Amino acid sequence: MKSTEARKGSGLCGYSYSLVLEGQNYTRCRKTSTRVAFATFKLLTLIFIVIFVIFPLSYKYSYKLQSSAVFLNFLHVPSDANYKNPSSYGLYGSRNFYVTHDGGITLGVWHILPENHTYPAYDADEGRYFEEALADGQDVIIYHHGNAGTRLTQHRVELYTILRRYFHVITFDYRSYGDSSNVAPSEKKVVVDSMFIYEWVQNRTKGNIFVWGHSLGTSIAIHSMALLQEKGVMPAGVILESPFNNMREEISEFPLARLFKNLPWFSYTVIDPMQENGFLFQSDKHICKVDAPIMILHAEDDHVVPFKLGRKLYQEGIKCRREDQGPLLFRAFDGKHGYDHKFICRAPEIHDIIRNFTSIALKDRTKVL
Ligand SMILES: *[C@@H]1O[C@H](CO)[C@@H](O)[C@H](O)[C@H]1NC(C)=O
Ligand SMILES: *[C@@H]1O[C@H](CO)[C@@H](O)[C@H](O)[C@H]1NC(C)=O
Ligand SMILES: *[C@@H]1O[C@H](CO)[C@@H](O)[C@H](O)[C@H]1NC(C)=O
Repeated sequence: MKSTEARKGSGLCGYSYSLVLEGQNYTRCRKTSTRVAFATFKLLTLIFIVIFVIFPLSYKYSYKLQSSAVFLNFLHVPSDANYKNPSSYGLYGSRNFYVTHDGGITLGVWHILPENHTYPAYDADEGRYFEEALADGQDVIIYHHGNAGTRLTQHRVELYTILRRYFHVITFDYRSYGDSSNVAPSEKKVVVDSMFIYEWVQNRTKGNIFVWGHSLGTSIAIHSMALLQEKGVMPAGVILESPFNNMREEISEFPLARLFKNLPWFSYTVIDPMQENGFLFQSDKHICKVDAPIMILHAEDDHVVPFKLGRKLYQEGIKCRREDQGPLLFRAFDGKHGYDHKFICRAPEIHDIIRNFTSIALKDRTKVL
């Protein structure tokens, strides 16, 4: 009877087994369980070291890993993406084209005509038609998308359909995104892309130029405007949707980083190397330099870029900006609406918000000029 029970339990070394056994067998079983526990401990230690030590150390020394984490330019690119045909995304009256700059870097661009523009069904010289339309004096908005995805990502298209009520919409992919040149991006380089697009538009319109950025695109847009300012170029207004104050503070909020941010070596392996490698995105510095009215939009339930970072950017801006640089406005969206990171464009009052801002901005402009 005893031996049957012993055999039954032998693989498991469970409690019931230990109780029925004589002293000798019990000892053997305890040795086994000690060995199992030790092996498990070793395995767990190894897993811990790989995840929490080796991975952060590899991150520290890999520019490529850091760049991928910031730009996420490999994510959400649909294999059936149809950049050449904006109408397949519901954008009628829109043109896809390419511009080349900076020694051969090509950028994919869409020009979406204002909603009230009557667009002929077919035009043999599409490029000329659209450039003439851009020159009609109506205001233009240049959209700067965030990381992951491209100019055709669905939530962005949703916003264009709002913006086109008031503006010509110009939206583009920075290098390494979409069908733009597939070369390594950096903060400086995507900012150069943005500056070029601005100058391209400026050369072709008599209307006012507004600049819209979303998420990482807010940092690119404001940095670009700060550099253009040094050349005496100023937009009519800047809208920053779901922005953060600087990359140093934003890094800890990355979904993956949340797992690591309490490690004592988080700064050493993640934050400091990214600062050294130039992933700065210091919007809280650039916002001080732009002589144009600025409006920040942020939803309280934003789970990608926390509301508090948008708020910090605003507070920094309020501290450093002079009154004659134009107003800095902040508009919060209650978390109960669920707009989160990407869907402030669904707020019914978005039309009033945009119209009110453009009228403040243009009034401000005539005051300055
Ligand atoms: C479209 O609307 C804008 C102002 O909202 C106006 O200036 C422009 O002339 C209109 N264009 C056409 C083609 O109706
Ligand atoms: C804009 O026009 C200026 C002056 O004609 C020219 O030097 C510059 O290259 C143009 N820039 C773009 C981006 O078209
Ligand atoms: C827009 O401005 C008008 C007039 O100043 C004001 O009554 C209205 O509340 C504003 N709307 C929004 C959404 O700010």
